[in-house]
Amino acid sequence: MSVERVVVGISGASGAALGARIVERLAALPAIETHLVVSDAARRTLDLECPPGTLARLTGLAHRHHPVGDVGASIASGSFPVRGMIVAPCSMQTLSAIATGRTDTLLTRAADVQLKERRRLVLLARETPLHLGHLRNMVAVTEMGAIVTPPVPAFYHCPRSVEEIVDHIAARAIDLLALPHAPLAKSWEG
Ligand SMILES: Cc1cc2nc3c(=O)[nH]c(=O)nc-3n(C[C@H](O)[C@H](O)[C@H](O)COP(=O)(O)O)c2cc1C
Repeated sequence: MSVERVVVGISGASGAALGARIVERLAALPAIETHLVVSDAARRTLDLECPPGTLARLTGLAHRHHPVGDVGASIASGSFPVRGMIVAPCSMQTLSAIATGRTDTLLTRAADVQLKERRRLVLLARETPLHLGHLRNMVAVTEMGAIVTPPVPAFYHCPRSVEEIVDHIAARAIDLLALPHAPLAKSWEG
């Protein structure tokens, strides 16, 4: 199995645990190289919403942790082959930047690269309720090829904890990258 590179961006919407779980899940898969980029606002949500030391743990699990200001990092270039990118959670600010091609941080530049190279870009857009501008940005990124998958819980697998809900959403997001691993999320058998 050849090594697959995956970029994980964590932006400053609520639900930092989703990004954390995705990094953990990817670290447990064989032949996956995870490149992590965390926005400044996400540093704050990770601090507020996750156990102490979470960011340090994630940077240890990822193959590379790129500073969000480093627009010269490998993942800022389309010539650096990656399978795709997940932004989890994706704030409305980051969604808007992606929708309008604003690439002034490494996170939004890396997302833009996925679109221009016609690679998978999976956005766990998190806000509620949504105004028309949010919805229009979701339409725009979908038209450009991104997959918008808001972190909406499924209840058909009868989750017993928040952790199980987070884990299921994380597994579904990774499955959307179509990596050469079996689906991670438990599938509905009818
Ligand atoms: C605790 C907390 C929760 C937030 N939740 C959301 C959210 O769910 N959705 C959102 O779009 N912004 C949310 N924000 C606001 C974003 O962090 C803010 O718009 C920030 O500028 C986003 O920057 P980024 O996209 O570069 O990460 C939240 C902020 C904080 C401090």
